[in-house]
Amino acid sequence: MLKTVKTTAYTDQKMGTAGLRKKSKVWMQPNYVENFVQSIFNSIGGVEGKSFIIGGDGRFYNTVMIQKIIKLAAGNGVKKLIIGQNGLMSTPISSRLIKDYQTDGSLVLTASHNPGGENGDAGIKYATASGGQAPKQITDAIYKNTKEITEYNLVEGNDVDLSKLGPTTYGNMEIELIDTIDGYIAMCEEIFDFDALKALFKKGFKLKFDSMNAITGPYAVKLFEEILGAEKGSVMNSTPLPDFGGLHPDPNLKYAAELIKIMNSKNAPDFGAATDGDGDRYMILGRNFFVTPSDSLAIITDNYKFIPAYEKGIFGVAKSAATSTAVARVAQAHKIGYYETPTGWKFFVNLMDSDRITFCGEESFGAGSSHIREKDGIWAVLFWLNIIAKTGKSVEEIVTEHWQKYGRSYYMRFDFEEIDSEIANKLMADLQTKLSTLQGQKFGTNEVETAGAFVYNDPVDGSSTQDGFLIRFKDGSRIVYRLSGTGSVGATLRVYVEKLETKNIKEDARLMVDELYQIASQVAEIEKRTGKKEADVTT
Ligand code: G1P
Ligand code: ZN
Repeated sequence: MLKTVKTTAYTDQKMGTAGLRKKSKVWMQPNYVENFVQSIFNSIGGVEGKSFIIGGDGRFYNTVMIQKIIKLAAGNGVKKLIIGQNGLMSTPISSRLIKDYQTDGSLVLTASHNPGGENGDAGIKYATASGGQAPKQITDAIYKNTKEITEYNLVEGNDVDLSKLGPTTYGNMEIELIDTIDGYIAMCEEIFDFDALKALFKKGFKLKFDSMNAITGPYAVKLFEEILGAEKGSVMNSTPLPDFGGLHPDPNLKYAAELIKIMNSKNAPDFGAATDGDGDRYMILGRNFFVTPSDSLAIITDNYKFIPAYEKGIFGVAKSAATSTAVARVAQAHKIGYYETPTGWKFFVNLMDSDRITFCGEESFGAGSSHIREKDGIWAVLFWLNIIAKTGKSVEEIVTEHWQKYGRSYYMRFDFEEIDSEIANKLMADLQTKLSTLQGQKFGTNEVETAGAFVYNDPVDGSSTQDGFLIRFKDGSRIVYRLSGTGSVGATLRVYVEKLETKNIKEDARLMVDELYQIASQVAEIEKRTGKKEADVTT
């Protein structure tokens, strides 16, 4: 039965870099999900006759949210929902399915790499028919709507059985429950050389892939173990769990501790990798060797010719401003387009849609190509395996040779978390004023070339976006400051530092960037203002 329900607006439903992320308990408040979803529907000109992809990373409260979305969609006249079986679907495949099914967009229920469970986070990412996250005009309109909403529409009825594959209906709305694993693997097979990968594993190559009890488990077991022939048990933490088994599903040196231990042990496998909650982030490891995401993007770009889908050539590459400039040198050497954007995938989407770039990536463990409009963790892992299969080199050899050829951007990121928002905003405002006086100033032997806001003028739609601040030194070193757009509590200040070395390429990164880090801390008066002597997370 169609019903209109009166509701009271919430004031905190502002989408960040990647959708709306909140504590699960916030989502569990009365009408919180309903208000937000109805606001999306209202802000995109209604949804009558439209279709959407629906899925999520399996975290706590996802299936409750999906049942609510089904009722709301039916209440607003949606024609069809395509839903992942048991509500499961990785972010990368959701982007592909928007195109394959030509839907009007997707709702993916995830808080990405944030912990899950009743005391963890949950979230909704909304993507448009482009396959990518909604642009700012749309997210602004949604936010405005969430503050004004007074009612929502739904069709009341029994919950839909999300386990049963195939077509069904809810009221007048069509639903199709699909398994997304085979489709994802078929997409990968179109891109990579599966024969070369099978041959690699046949020779005894050893892989450890950590799904972190999150979405990629079932995809990875089928792909790596069943199809490509990696040994059974190569995929660890392979069952998606509502609370990720207590893990913080962020594939980095801190949170993928179990995998790091394995990769640093005496009998380490040849190659290690991990992905995050919703499968878009990734980390690459060799034996006792960590590949920074910035270097990974540079190496992927440099080796495109080893991959069947790209061997004929690529358009260009883009990175976020916060990412190291390693890939810039590769782009220059290959004479391909190169773009530096604000943080967030949506800026890459415009560049892809206009054939300016094929690859893109961020320092935050995300990389992807124009096969979809999101980052894709397993794609990046397959890219590395494909390079290894073709060159016969180890991870460490590939990276070291890259540094020898292009120089090494020593790079680190320092996160100061849960700062009081007012303090963080004041820090940034004062920093901007200070930076305007910094040009030409000397720190030791190093001189500031430029300092100020990082402003991006989108070559496609002409929009202009500011994202944090950038200090450039004469020797090519850089410091970037920005506030996170994805946190769920307080503000997070991120400080990124980078130093280029063409000769000393085997030093300790923390030592090599220390001087820059000290400058960055002093200029922004981080300790004085936040009381924090050290960063909470260093990557
Ligand atoms: C973080 C990352 C950013 C990424 C985003 C979504 O955003 O830094 O690169 O695109 O998560 O995964 P931030 O919290 O810095 O705004
Ligand atoms: Zn993610």
